[in-house]
Amino acid sequence: MALLPAWYFDESKMAGVDFKSIDQVEAFDQKQLSSTPEKEQALVARLGIGSGHTVVDLGAGTGAFAIRAALSGAAVVHAVDISQAMLTYAENKAQQAGVEQIQFHRAGFLTYDHEGNLADFVISKYALHILPDFWKMVAFLQIASILKPGGVFYLRDVIFSFPPSQYEAGINAWIERAAKPEGWTASDYELHVREEHSTFAWIIEGMLTRAGFEVAEANYLSPTAAEYRCIKSGI
Ligand SMILES: C[S@@+](CC[C@H](N)C(=O)[O-])C[C@H]1O[C@@H](n2cnc3c(N)ncnc32)[C@H](O)[C@@H]1O
Repeated sequence: MALLPAWYFDESKMAGVDFKSIDQVEAFDQKQLSSTPEKEQALVARLGIGSGHTVVDLGAGTGAFAIRAALSGAAVVHAVDISQAMLTYAENKAQQAGVEQIQFHRAGFLTYDHEGNLADFVISKYALHILPDFWKMVAFLQIASILKPGGVFYLRDVIFSFPPSQYEAGINAWIERAAKPEGWTASDYELHVREEHSTFAWIIEGMLTRAGFEVAEANYLSPTAAEYRCIKSGI
């Protein structure tokens, strides 16, 4: 990557939870119930990922989605994550699953330097909230630049669709509903709201459109989670 200007965002200084050790990654893997092999496989199938596709997973975590995409026949899957501990864990899992077409990259949304074929699919789940909004926009522009025209960008994250004036009730209801004594606790969610950068759906949607995406599908999974299937325009 070219030398970055002094004002560029430093992704290595992560907001919120920093996955520095294998112990932290293992604990994360236990709690991340939104990611099971069955759920990841269903998403791979729903998106239509299969033979010959080039796939990029940004904030790939423990590699669960990347492994299912590879097992479904993708030609190459680029699993990108800022945490070396996550990548090491994901690489071990991929070896155990016997998949060879995953390339692991220690990089962030803003610093990943894509080489090879343009991507048919870029996906990012529960990771983009790490960036403040200005840098989310930069990330969307970069994602658009590595996708083929007509390629798909799938985004799922903690994204708020409650009315802005009801932010207090919206956040409190989320923590009350989602927090478990084991798994993600109330203090995990409090830290997320306090230190990370989840934002409103209308802001995300405005940015996606300005980055050159058509939002083909928007699902508000709850008042605090949303998913988007976007098509890179230009065909
Ligand atoms: C909550 S985990 C989600 C992992 C996975 N996508 C899933 O659905 O289970 C967020 C991941 O984003 C990674 N991450 C944090 N900041 C990042 C950045 N700037 N660029 C890329 N990945 C980042 C973390 O290391 C972590 O693996």
